Amino acid sequence: MTGPGRTDDGYVLGHSARELDRLDLQGALYLEPTLSVLERSGIGPGMRVLDVGCGSGDVSALAARLVGPSGHVQGVDRDEGTISAARERAASRGLDNVGFEAGDFARGVGAEGFDAVIGRFILMHQTDPASALAAAARSLRPGGVVAFVESSMTLLRDGLHSQPPSPLYDRIVRWKCAVVGGAGAHLDAGMALRSTFLAAGLPEPETRLEAAVVGGAGHPYFRYIAESVGSMLPMARRLGITGFDAASAAALGSALEAEVAASGGVLIAWPVVAAWCRTPGA
Ligand SMILES: C[S@@+](CC[C@H](N)C(=O)[O-])C[C@H]1O[C@@H](n2cnc3c(N)ncnc32)[C@H](O)[C@@H]1O
Repeated sequence: MTGPGRTDDGYVLGHSARELDRLDLQGALYLEPTLSVLERSGIGPGMRVLDVGCGSGDVSALAARLVGPSGHVQGVDRDEGTISAARERAASRGLDNVGFEAGDFARGVGAEGFDAVIGRFILMHQTDPASALAAAARSLRPGGVVAFVESSMTLLRDGLHSQPPSPLYDRIVRWKCAVVGGAGAHLDAGMALRSTFLAAGLPEPETRLEAAVVGGAGHPYFRYIAESVGSMLPMARRLGITGFDAASAAALGSALEAEVAASGGVLIAWPVVAAWCRTPGA
């Protein structure tokens, strides 16, 4: 591994079929804050949008609906298998105004003149988030939109992220932070977004923090937590972090759900920060 999620081998969540399913589940859980930032930032009909670190294309699909048939969304991901999955998902969603290409956006995307550059859960995986963001922003026309959503894992603290306090959620949060942080990703990318924008030479962004409060039986967050832990097991093994194995990870969603149901309590789901701005006009 050469650094924080910087090569396919070092990427904390891997690129398995299971991880692509986890991305779909994550897309559903974070649909509202994502759609909200895309709309608030001004993405609309006819625009050409670049989605960096597009994964299986969930954010690209949301943007594709906003830009409509006269617009176009270009997704970029450095993993070839993920790009193939994104193409298949776009076809099954009936989207013909999106395209996907393999590449490392932090080294610059060949094309220019985009109306907007967007990304979700991606700056946290860059060696230098500000220079990666600056590289992506160089693909914009003057007056273009920049809109990103990042998680802030450090906001979930023992005793504060659940009510009444959930010992199992404590364990899961600590374990996930240890694995993601151990892989070199930035745990506080969300809270750092404003300073990342400024360090990238962008104007002062508008910002929002959002988190779901989860309690009800059958909430998809419980399954998402189990799937996330499952996707991170290979990296945890490499880092020598113990605590969960395949069997305990598989049972984690129902165990957490049962604990919360028994206490009649709630959990704060992983919070996200959104930031957006427009670059200076021509
Ligand atoms: C956590 S996933 C997020 C996917 C998607 N943005 C979403 O929200 O569903 C991060 C993705 O970024 C890709 N990635 C990480 N660094 C990258 C880079 N420098 N250039 C292109 N893709 C990158 C990974 O391969 C992975 O598919």
